[in-house]
Amino acid sequence: MHIFRTKNLDQLQQDADASTKTHLKRVLGPVDLIALGIGAIIGTGIFTTVGTAVAGDAIRPGAGPAIMLSFLLTAIACAFCGLCYAEFASLVPISGSAYTYSYATLGELVAWIIGWDLIIEYAVGNVAVAISWAAYFHQLCEGLGIHIPAWLSVDYRSAVQAASRVAAGTLNPSQSLPYEAWLNHPSIFGIPIIFNFLAVFIVAVITWLLVVGVKESARANNVMVAIKLIILFFFIYAGIKFVKPENWTPFMPNGFSGVWVGASLIFFAYIGFDAISTAAEECKKPERDMPIGIIGSLIICTIVYVIVAAVLTGMVPWQHLGVADPLAEAFAQVGSNVSAGIVALGAVVAMSAVLLVFQYGQPRIFFSMSRDGLLPKYFTKVHPKYQTPHITTIWTGVVVAAISAVANIDEIVELTNIGTLFAFVLVCAGIIILRYKEPNRPRKFRTPFVPLVPLLGIGSCIYLMAGLPWVTWARFGLWLAAGLVFYFAYGFWKSHLRAAKP
Ligand code: ALA
Repeated sequence: MHIFRTKNLDQLQQDADASTKTHLKRVLGPVDLIALGIGAIIGTGIFTTVGTAVAGDAIRPGAGPAIMLSFLLTAIACAFCGLCYAEFASLVPISGSAYTYSYATLGELVAWIIGWDLIIEYAVGNVAVAISWAAYFHQLCEGLGIHIPAWLSVDYRSAVQAASRVAAGTLNPSQSLPYEAWLNHPSIFGIPIIFNFLAVFIVAVITWLLVVGVKESARANNVMVAIKLIILFFFIYAGIKFVKPENWTPFMPNGFSGVWVGASLIFFAYIGFDAISTAAEECKKPERDMPIGIIGSLIICTIVYVIVAAVLTGMVPWQHLGVADPLAEAFAQVGSNVSAGIVALGAVVAMSAVLLVFQYGQPRIFFSMSRDGLLPKYFTKVHPKYQTPHITTIWTGVVVAAISAVANIDEIVELTNIGTLFAFVLVCAGIIILRYKEPNRPRKFRTPFVPLVPLLGIGSCIYLMAGLPWVTWARFGLWLAAGLVFYFAYGFWKSHLRAAKP
């Protein structure tokens, strides 16, 4: 029955203190954490996914101008979950995020499932961001007169799909990077060579930054956060004069189901506030700084998103926004190419910051799992000079880079959303359980109105999950099944909790 045994919170704290003394440095303050949050949050969602969420895809209608409503709905769902994360992070201020929290509350098996599930949020999410980074970077270079071959900037399957859509007359060949890759790719022994080298490149750079050390990386992140906020303010400032209020009517062209589908996709734009909690072991006063970091970054991003969405859908008819670079495209459509270039530059910077935060979080989750014996001990190694978990950082980089060379962004975004929402459901459930199991344990931050707020968090996450296509559910189910096989083949036997005397 040990799979249902929970870790003792005091023991967790002692482990964390021991590892802080010998390993990870406490260097981060509240401003660093808000910056870490915004660094994770604003990225591919607002620069790329918003296009599909507004205009819809081939099979599902989008939200249209009511994307503003989708943003608000999603923000409310995230706020419920964020409040739960904040209580957990101030109660269990050690690295590992939802994985660690659930180990203390729901037992080892559920903790493993969450840890496994978080790979989808962090590593798979980063695959989507790296792919979208590559598309914007390619476009930016084109604007500067530097030509990078299209066959080094997209994946093979997207190129094949683009070719068949052009043949069917559903894609404009002149605007499609994947189609350009299909037309001009080289071959070796008859095998077509098309892969996303640019995505691999950016993942490699970010991985190196993180191996060199958290302090330098957090500083680089602060600079990137400032730049991307400035770029979004620039979008609002330069775009507002092109707004035609008639573009906002009808406000909800596809009814509430469009708003729902839009919300289930645009959820991607909010993923990241929870990544702050993975840095708990490296921040100066986790009990005070964690809630400030999580809720603060969520509020700032929601305000910016809703205003950007209002300007975007006011500038051009919503049907024209179903492209990979909707913010830049909106300027291009109103004839402002310089502004389009500036926004493309901002997108590249924004996504680099997102990559930085998620590549930072994932190795720390592996680190915690390995410290508990659920993954091989090899992963707990810390770099002697930089004091970073370099082994897990490098492995994360290698896997993310390899997948982003060949993956399709739409499928990856949907998978990331379902995996992340599922982790949020388990975190909200954990808060309720812990209030009953350990009602007297001091909590520096308390989620208000328990169990109402966690229940609303669970309900809203399930609602957003239900807006995703069945194929995404099937992929997610397979991933979880693979995780269970791995657990019963390895972690079940090697768990330190199992080995400990009762
Ligand atoms: N929220 C992050 C982004 O939109 C994952 O890129």
